[in-house]
Amino acid sequence: MRGTLENKVRAAVAAAAVVMCAGAVVAYDVGPGPDASPAFAEPVRNATIVIDPGGVRKGYATPLVTVSGGGTVTVVNLDSFDHTVTSVAKGPDGLPVFDVRIRAGTSETVPGTALLAAGAWEFYCKLHPSMRGTLTVEGSGGGVEPERPSFDQPLVVPRTDRGADVRLVMRQARVRTRADGPRTSMWTYDGSYPGPTIRRRGGQGTEVTVVNRLPKGAGSMSTHLHGDHHASRYDGQPTSYLIRRGASRTYDYPLTVGGEPEPGSFFWYHDHRMDRTARNNWRGLQGMFIVTDPPQRGLRLPRGNRDVPLMISERSFRADNQLTDPFAHGPEMADHHGSMAWTGPHAPPDDATIGDTVLVNGREAPYLRVSATRYRLRLLNSSPFSSYNFALSDGRPFLQIGTGSGLLPRAVVRTHVLLGPAQRADVLVDFHGATGQRLVLSSDPAAPGTSGDDARRTPVMEFRVGDPAPDTSRLPARLPSPELVSPVPSKVTRTWTFGLSGDDHHGSYWSINGRAFDPDRVDHRARLGTVERWRFRNTSDLTHYVHIHAEQWRTLRRDGRTPPPWEQGLEDTWRLEPGEEVEVAARFTDHTGPFMIHCHMLDHEDHGMMARFDVVD
Ligand code: C2O
Ligand code: CU
Repeated sequence: MRGTLENKVRAAVAAAAVVMCAGAVVAYDVGPGPDASPAFAEPVRNATIVIDPGGVRKGYATPLVTVSGGGTVTVVNLDSFDHTVTSVAKGPDGLPVFDVRIRAGTSETVPGTALLAAGAWEFYCKLHPSMRGTLTVEGSGGGVEPERPSFDQPLVVPRTDRGADVRLVMRQARVRTRADGPRTSMWTYDGSYPGPTIRRRGGQGTEVTVVNRLPKGAGSMSTHLHGDHHASRYDGQPTSYLIRRGASRTYDYPLTVGGEPEPGSFFWYHDHRMDRTARNNWRGLQGMFIVTDPPQRGLRLPRGNRDVPLMISERSFRADNQLTDPFAHGPEMADHHGSMAWTGPHAPPDDATIGDTVLVNGREAPYLRVSATRYRLRLLNSSPFSSYNFALSDGRPFLQIGTGSGLLPRAVVRTHVLLGPAQRADVLVDFHGATGQRLVLSSDPAAPGTSGDDARRTPVMEFRVGDPAPDTSRLPARLPSPELVSPVPSKVTRTWTFGLSGDDHHGSYWSINGRAFDPDRVDHRARLGTVERWRFRNTSDLTHYVHIHAEQWRTLRRDGRTPPPWEQGLEDTWRLEPGEEVEVAARFTDHTGPFMIHCHMLDHEDHGMMARFDVVD
């Protein structure tokens, strides 16, 4: 990596020198140029946005810039990574009002700013969303106003399949995503996006047969039931037990752990093909799987249509409502294992599949009519890359009762719920007192006192609150949560370091313990029946989301401290900020064979940030 990065930095400095010599840019001086003569009443004020080396961590060097209506905005990128300047606000076409990518060591003019109406326009970097700023347009400005989402299509809850034998045909289908215009062609499980929601009680063995009828070129697939405990051969391995085109595979999920029914959980299924997971998920291979608790021991939670699973994901669309293809010009990939060669503009760490448009259960900006009573919302972030810091527009709190992996020991009141890729939260929302109102669920990164300033800023969906309705559900203070493993070893069994690596020969790649994924290399062996204590460290400049297959884990420490109350249940996916350390423990039960640990930002997973551990007898 050293060689690559140093070369990049040298190139950046050289390019910056060219920019500087041109004399057009005075870094940090975002006011009028020195020769703006007072003889002219209203000098047009241009603006410059500067990105210094280390921008990923430090953000824009000029987060607040001002431009006169009709002025130009230039971005100078002195960093060794690419960045974007992208407006939070969208135009009538649903795309950001302005959006420009500035390659490392170059400068660009932001198109379209001359037309902006006067006011404050927030912008961010799509590749590193914690970089944020505000562009203030002064004076008369242009006619372009930000579009407000109108929430004009109803939320759709996917069809529920409750049978012991489920059959899912993977096929291309045209599905409704946006309110207007043509349908979108996607790769689906059984003709819908998301696929059918499978709903089974813990302990009810379930066989899911997946048939591959995807178009030519899609290749072999592998379906992973995220969070579930099952045999290695049914885990949706990245390179083995694949589903070839025209063929099918039956996955056997007993929904038991150590002979006991699996606790009620909110899992999901998605494709897991090596090197292709981001693409296959982007195209639509995602669905939800709810495990319900055996007799809900006195728990009276909202049920039926007041128990709403919400899969939140994002995509970018062309004007004809078809998905863009962020993978068309992807990094070059060596086809032999263990020596990935990532070159080009989308090489790590500049690989981030981010969509402009947020979808809830496959629809853009939907609304849901609710009664003024209590609901259970199961939130899943199935985005390839982005995090969301969920909040309701009137500050109404969520009562979080579970993770995606079972109930929490105690319900937690939260105004914001931060979920990264693959994370879930089980929350209750009481719409009491909101009759006649429209409440917006949005992602609000700037919330004081919460981490997650790298989350997206975006509206997500709307709740249209109707009349109060009778409600027999109860707010439980203590919950029958699954038992946590105890005692746990005091010494760490295995440390997994998430970082960025590379060399001149292989290019840059995401790594665990310095290495890119190799399906034939066993990175750790754990003995069946034993309890291990694992530690994750993040030595990179970006947040990662660590996911472990096979078992559900207890979170022991986050940065040396007791984890927050919402992390005191079982977990399979953790947020890991730069410099952070998390320690977790689990017992390896029932199943031997290879399993995966990886970052669930799918570009990172595809670009090396995955390792294999084997459970052995
Ligand atoms: Cu949700 Cu290994 O994946
Ligand atoms: Cu990552």
